[in-house]
Amino acid sequence: MDREFIGKTALVTGASRGIGAATAVALAQHGARRLILHYNSYQPGIDAVIASAQKAGAEASAIQADLGSRSGLQSFLQNLNATGLGVDILVNNAGSLVQRTKLADFTPELFDRVITLNFKSAWFIAQAVAPYMIESKSGFIVNVSSIAARNGGGIGATIYAAAKAAVSAMTKGMMKELAPHGIRVNAVSPGTVDNNFHAQFSTRQILDTVVAATPAGALGTNEEVADTIVFLCSPAARYIHGQTIEINGGMFTV
Ligand SMILES: NC(=O)c1ccc[n+]([C@@H]2O[C@H](COP(=O)([O-])OP(=O)(O)OC[C@H]3O[C@@H](n4cnc5c(N)ncnc54)[C@H](OP(=O)(O)O)[C@@H]3O)[C@@H](O)[C@H]2O)c1
Repeated sequence: MDREFIGKTALVTGASRGIGAATAVALAQHGARRLILHYNSYQPGIDAVIASAQKAGAEASAIQADLGSRSGLQSFLQNLNATGLGVDILVNNAGSLVQRTKLADFTPELFDRVITLNFKSAWFIAQAVAPYMIESKSGFIVNVSSIAARNGGGIGATIYAAAKAAVSAMTKGMMKELAPHGIRVNAVSPGTVDNNFHAQFSTRQILDTVVAATPAGALGTNEEVADTIVFLCSPAARYIHGQTIEINGGMFTV
């Protein structure tokens, strides 16, 4: 395994399970020296990820925050600042559908929560880490979008899908601002990954239908997405800027 991130500090949000947990462990296995890991509610998950990262030779610590609320985002940014650490690699991964809700029942509070968690937090966390990257003339930001950004999402997931479309657009705009400073900004767009996300929001019947419509014949795994994130931060991806890489087994190709 290449250890291309030796000496680097990485911040991964939503690292307590799923894609974020797999990404944190992969970054440690690829040599990252220090991991700042964010979680919201799943303490046993973040404890296990910290243990795996340490086993791979990285220092790791965690910050808890609900990134779906304005106060939670502020507290996260304050605690991040209090670490005094510069971040070389940012993976803006924390996200959720929150709840499936149709137009008629959507409240302004739910709208703000979905947008803050999936979109606004990524922008302001990038704002917090960018000055160090600019000073270092180097840095990597990977935002996590979704296939929903391309297809509008399933029923009751419209605002989540719109937030993820905003993440893809933000990735391009942020890239234009930061690429001249030696910082690469990209995004990944997972299709349907077989993890807690869909255990919460989809039925097995929905997932079987997705598998049947997927050319690769299977749902995605956390590790398949994590490997792409690692690639995007690696020297092998040195001329890739502002892209959103679709990882969906050929499910959606337009
Ligand atoms: N699974 C898929 O099929 C799929 C497809 C496309 C895009 N995505 C995106 O991939 C990213 C990772 O999701 P996943 O699939 O790995 O799902 P997951 O296993 O459910 O993990 C979600 C992560 O986000 C964190 N999170 C959820 N709500 C939060 C909140 N209010 N404040 C702060 N953190 C919160 C969770 O923290 P706790 O567990 O500690 O609460 C957890 O670490 C998300 O942005 C998601 O939208 C997933």
